Amino acid sequence: QAIAAGKLPMAGKHVLITSGPTHEPIDPVRYIANRSSGKQGHALAEAAFAAGARVTLVSGPVTIPDPDHVTTIHVESAAEMMAAVEQNLPADIAIMAAAVADWRVVSEGDQKIKKDGSGKPPGLELTENPDILRTIGHHKTLRPSLLIGFAAETQDLIKNAAAKLERKRADWIVANDVSPATGIMGGDANTIRLVSANGVEDWPAMDKKDVARQLIARAAEMLSRDKS
Ligand code: CTP
Ligand code: CA
Repeated sequence: QAIAAGKLPMAGKHVLITSGPTHEPIDPVRYIANRSSGKQGHALAEAAFAAGARVTLVSGPVTIPDPDHVTTIHVESAAEMMAAVEQNLPADIAIMAAAVADWRVVSEGDQKIKKDGSGKPPGLELTENPDILRTIGHHKTLRPSLLIGFAAETQDLIKNAAAKLERKRADWIVANDVSPATGIMGGDANTIRLVSANGVEDWPAMDKKDVARQLIARAAEMLSRDKS
């Protein structure tokens, strides 16, 4: 929809978004993954485009369609997501909505691992994945002016979110309680708490698309304030 006699609020801005889970291969037929539908990240990409931005979406494997008018880069693993994000900087705003797997298998088998008949499972040696949000938060030259992360928690929501805000040098953390009883994981609704240096704001439960529109409106306001 057009805004009367004015520019769209994000005209001329580049918004870079991660969405979905990552898959970390174990062997040719198995992987480690996080639960994530990609609904919130993809809705953010759509909302940023509707606000006039040029949008790059780096998405892990999801079953929902690519948003229209958005450059979507498909990746599987955290390492691929990290590389795609770095290749698509600079951005005015970056929103890291992906549920990145924290660990990957040290050496991916090139053949399917077989049961050896002993009844004992194989040991998997894991190593930590790169932290994409933290890496760009600490970027010397290419840190976006507004950097937004998520914190999906099942306990100590605000304490954990505030720690992530600081550790990753994000401007905002969108915190949500993803305990199974909330139905947020995979569902259409989200109840968020916005954590920033200014404190914690509780948002009412709403559709993920409305969360996206309101976050994008807030981000546009923030950027215009920076300029003045
Ligand atoms: N994130 C990321 N790269 C990672 C892990 C997380 O970019 N390797 C981002 C997520 O996209 C999210 C934020 O960091 O925006 C918080 O993710 P979360 O999994 O909650 O934080 P972790 O630092 O991984 O801490 P933990 O899982 O132990 O709570
Ligand atoms: Ca994590």
